Amino acid sequence: MKAVVITKPGGPEVLEIQERPVPVFKSDEILIKVYAAGINRPDIFQRKGNYPPPTGAPQDIPGLEVAGTVEQIGSEVKNWKIGDRVCALLAGGGYAEYAVVNAQHCLSIPKQISFIEAASLPETVYTVWHNVFQKGKLQSGENFLVHGGSSGIGITAIQLAKGFGAKVFATAGSDEKCEACVSLGADLCINYKNEDFETALKDEGADVILDMVGGDYIPKNLRLLRVDGRMVFINTMKSNKAEGVDFGLIMKNRLTITGSTLRNRDISFKAELTKEILKNVWPLLESGKFKPVIYKEFPLEEAAKAHQLMESSDHIGKIVLTNGW
Ligand SMILES: NC(=O)c1ccc[n+]([C@@H]2O[C@H](COP(=O)([O-])OP(=O)(O)OC[C@H]3O[C@@H](n4cnc5c(N)ncnc54)[C@H](OP(=O)(O)O)[C@@H]3O)[C@@H](O)[C@H]2O)c1
Repeated sequence: MKAVVITKPGGPEVLEIQERPVPVFKSDEILIKVYAAGINRPDIFQRKGNYPPPTGAPQDIPGLEVAGTVEQIGSEVKNWKIGDRVCALLAGGGYAEYAVVNAQHCLSIPKQISFIEAASLPETVYTVWHNVFQKGKLQSGENFLVHGGSSGIGITAIQLAKGFGAKVFATAGSDEKCEACVSLGADLCINYKNEDFETALKDEGADVILDMVGGDYIPKNLRLLRVDGRMVFINTMKSNKAEGVDFGLIMKNRLTITGSTLRNRDISFKAELTKEILKNVWPLLESGKFKPVIYKEFPLEEAAKAHQLMESSDHIGKIVLTNGW
């Protein structure tokens, strides 16, 4: 099969199409014929050598999410049959013509959703559900702030938070990105290049903040949190160090600071999360209240161009690779 391989740590040019054997599946796994694979920022970090895949995952083929049809099933798999349309969360190996995944980490693709749209969903939906709703415990009527509102994570967080009745704020780096965030349901989006988000939101405050930026956002986030507020980190792209953090606020306002990374979680955790998503998020997808946002698709052979686009941060929503089956 064709696969995109990280030949060595480096820039987009280190991605190369190679011939690889179709992966072997275990008794509790399925083999997916991949029609489309979503691109996520962690793939960029992996390509640069800063985000190694967990043991057991494909080591040099990136890709955390795919959509396609079930090609073969392991002997213990009861919940899928050959030909089913599925999307799946992977720990790696998605940029290829075939991918192997635990049968419990797959979701059926609703009829009106294309393979390209479905491939854009698992990594961000699982991350947002776990961090915003399970760890952040966002409730209807609360104020929610997401940084990087136009990112794959951001467009998912805005729609799901709104869908579950929160008042939603976002930050993004251009007016065009802010307009997109508002069109997806954000009540207010702050272009952080023109306006200080802490000043803009100080009267409102936030019950839950999802942050991927870190650095100098950290003290501002803590000051914005309301009493019993929850701060959830999924990355610290600027820096994982911060100056001027007032830890007194944590006691005074009873704040919770938490965070997580999805990729290294075990099989049973991801299986439980899959069930939760099927129950809570899939109905919104089926009803059209939650929509995939595809910015651009590229053929598998142009994975380097797709990575360049993601690193430019010009995109709004998701970038997807297609296989041309
Ligand atoms: N913990 C987990 O389990 C988990 C899982 C998936 C993703 N993530 C993280 O979530 C973040 C979003 O992922 P994604 O795939 O949605 O990425 P993405 O679409 O590429 O979005 C990243 C956005 O972050 C904004 N940004 C702000 N500060 C930045 C900085 N210093 N460097 C680069 N970008 C910056 C950019 O938008 P502006 O132009 O508005 O600044 C950019 O569009 C990433 O940091 C990723 O590592 C974490």
